[in-house]
Amino acid sequence: MNHFDYKDGQLFAEDVSIESIADRVGTPFYCYSTATLERHYKILAEALTDAGVEAAICFAVKANSNVAVIKTLAQLGAGADVVSEGELRRALAAGVPPERIVFSGVGKTRDELRFAVATGIHQINVESEPELDMLSNVAVELGREQAIAIRVNPDVDANTHEKITTGRKENKFGIEWTDAHQVLRRAHDLPGLKAVGVACHIGSQLTEIQPFKDAFIRIRDLVVMLKADGIAIERLDLGGGLGVPYQGEILPGPREYAKVVAATLGNLGCKIMVEPGRLLVGNAGILVTRVIYVKEGATRTFVIVDAAMNDLMRPALYDAYHQIDPVKLTGEDPVLVDVVGPVCETGDTFAKQRSLQPVNPGDLLVLRTAGAYGASMSSMYNSRPLAPEVLVKGDQFAEVRARPAYQEILAMESLPAWLGA
Ligand code: LLP
Repeated sequence: MNHFDYKDGQLFAEDVSIESIADRVGTPFYCYSTATLERHYKILAEALTDAGVEAAICFAVKANSNVAVIKTLAQLGAGADVVSEGELRRALAAGVPPERIVFSGVGKTRDELRFAVATGIHQINVESEPELDMLSNVAVELGREQAIAIRVNPDVDANTHEKITTGRKENKFGIEWTDAHQVLRRAHDLPGLKAVGVACHIGSQLTEIQPFKDAFIRIRDLVVMLKADGIAIERLDLGGGLGVPYQGEILPGPREYAKVVAATLGNLGCKIMVEPGRLLVGNAGILVTRVIYVKEGATRTFVIVDAAMNDLMRPALYDAYHQIDPVKLTGEDPVLVDVVGPVCETGDTFAKQRSLQPVNPGDLLVLRTAGAYGASMSSMYNSRPLAPEVLVKGDQFAEVRARPAYQEILAMESLPAWLGA
């Protein structure tokens, strides 16, 4: 559920009309709803509590790295799961306390590890033995003891898009679950490290509960074996991955997920942490765009809009489906159209043969469920400025990232002396 609804045939974000925002900030732009963010966070938190699981929720910042969005979630109690120094700095700027931040990722650099250890973050999830050695070295250099978890690859097929599945043994992530025991034992003996946890994340946009169950059972078995070997695991980080509906599908929700967590890992006496991204922000955001032209092609009608694949990469990259709706309903019978952007690639197509109310140049459309991996994956390809981001709360809205001016974009570059600078 979200708070983007029609009132008298006009689309609103909470109590603000989308058209009024478009008039102010221009198009395309991302629009987020505070009430939806809050709702999703609370539903997950309540589901975990009701299942008897006391869990820390660390928002996966990669899904939406806008500081205002991170802060909205942080004020509800969320921590942050970060995968780069940039994301760590964003979480800190949003006021997330270091003791609620966990650092994941397969290729953290020495500088990034140094910054994270010096900041005193809650946990670093180590994904390889070379990383373990580097982190131990960095922590010793800084005179710190850093709490770590070993990210385990449980070799479970998440049954999701191949580009976002992460928990099979042929994927680059984590340490083979059969090696995890030996690596944790080594971690235990390395200076500067406190090996307290096991982490896993098997993929994103999971639409079934069974893969979670399979992975959690492997984690449980590992923890039990480690305990028998005298290695006490205090923390479990279960990653993110719960899918959201993009086309009105009925999917397993936080309650089913929480029950599986409770049944598989609930009685190990470990502190549990989850890292949801899409679940919290996916349906809390839309991309608003204006129709530039309607072009009758030889075999189909193209609705050419002012948003493009650089603003929302998911359709081009994963063939992802995003529901497209008009901002003003006219009640006319829908027609079949292709909705495309201005970028010079055929891949810059948001929808093929989609049923849509007839539109005219100047009309506004929205792409729904764009709050996760939308703005955070955008680029300036074709030298198109990044789309601004707007946060709505009740009857208020604020531009929380402005569209950069062309002068600012050009000022980031400079000419070398031999080109006459
Ligand atoms: N934790 C780790 C270690 C992750 O790698 C990810 C996502 C998450 C948590 C959050 O997963 P979520 O709850 O959002 O599924 N760009 C793709 C998704 C990439 C996901 C990468 N990792 C997309 O647009 O579908």
